[in-house]
Amino acid sequence: MNHTGTKRLETERLILRKFELSDAQDMFDNWAANPNVTKYLIWQPYTNVNDVRAYIQSCIDGYASGSTYNWVIEYKENGQAIGSISVVEVKEHIHCATVGYCLSEAYWRRGIMTEAFGRVIKYLFHEAGFNRIESTHNVNNPNSGKVMTKCGLQYEGTLRQAGVSNQGIIDHVVRAILTEDYDSGESFPQTLGCTKTN
Ligand SMILES: CC(C)(COP(=O)(O)OP(=O)(O)OC[C@H]1O[C@@H](n2cnc3c(N)ncnc32)[C@H](O)[C@@H]1OP(=O)(O)O)[C@@H](O)C(=O)NCCC(=O)NCCS
Repeated sequence: MNHTGTKRLETERLILRKFELSDAQDMFDNWAANPNVTKYLIWQPYTNVNDVRAYIQSCIDGYASGSTYNWVIEYKENGQAIGSISVVEVKEHIHCATVGYCLSEAYWRRGIMTEAFGRVIKYLFHEAGFNRIESTHNVNNPNSGKVMTKCGLQYEGTLRQAGVSNQGIIDHVVRAILTEDYDSGESFPQTLGCTKTN
């Protein structure tokens, strides 16, 4: 694959861009310290902003390879960093990206992650050259599954006791979209502005 890395992307309400150290306070205040956000994730809530800064530095170091996909989500209206979306695993041999995301609780249920993920899918297929985008969620976190479904990912199965999170050992739901699904326009909602021609 010819990786294109974390390019700046834009949607109606959002800018998706590389993390900067100056995002540390927003990340701490808006999502990283909130146990409601981390409930179904594998990391514990942060307890101080210095640890967030160290995490962001590791993200910044990761950009140097040009083959990482790790965006902070900036809300245009107020310029705040409100969440993140990233490729958490690449399977090079099948051109597959696994995507994960999290968002500040204050911004839930406004269609924001659907908007961000929709834009990332378009980029990963049309510019980065991936063929398959998959995402998994805890069976007890159906809201994340709804984001995936709204972005055109199809249900592929539930892997029993196949993952671990802050909930312990969990059943994993696997959903995915292929580039052919996306380009046929059949599984991707037209409301997200993605058709065969764009
Ligand atoms: C899961 C998460 C990313 C959803 O982000 P979001 O921006 O609130 O999702 P959207 O607003 O795009 O919602 C998409 C659909 O999911 C449903 N949904 C999302 N959150 C919901 C909630 N808390 N309660 C009920 N329905 C919800 C809505 O039905 C929505 O469909 P609609 O637009 O037709 O109403 C966000 O809640 C989050 O960051 N949670 C914590 C971290 C996490 O669980 N990450 C995913 C790990 S797999």
